[in-house]
Amino acid sequence: MSDVTTSGATSRRVLLTSAGAVGAGALLAACGSEAPATTEPTGAAASQPATGETVGAGIVLGKAADIPVGGGVIFKEQGVVVTQPTAGQYVGFSSICTHQACPVSQVEAGKIKCQCHFSEFSITDGSVLSPPAPRALDKKEIKVENGEIKLA
Ligand code: FES
Repeated sequence: MSDVTTSGATSRRVLLTSAGAVGAGALLAACGSEAPATTEPTGAAASQPATGETVGAGIVLGKAADIPVGGGVIFKEQGVVVTQPTAGQYVGFSSICTHQACPVSQVEAGKIKCQCHFSEFSITDGSVLSPPAPRALDKKEIKVENGEIKLA
């Protein structure tokens, strides 16, 4: 009887350890996207090895001047939405809807809209304003350098 219990406990421990490793990886990936950008001006950030979700760091998305205050621009190729909720405040989000992964298609009247099933998200924090999306858009770290918006 104790063999069965031990075996079961071991199996559970192995499963939990495996799940923990996966979870830790996901956490590291999540932390990687929150890493503050360095302020070194000449390509130092782009030459750093990627840790977690920093794929595309340094890629120029567009000009900050092209992001309307109270609105935003969808960069389809890069899968990023950049908004400017208030003058000088730029925020980046994934353009992939959290409902069924359609790309969002419009930024209008302070909302990021997905036309697949009409979810709407806040341009300020990506939160859901209108379901069926179950959660906010994922954040994308961006920075503004020399008037250009770049992935951080
Ligand atoms: S995939 Fe966006 S609302 Fe369904």
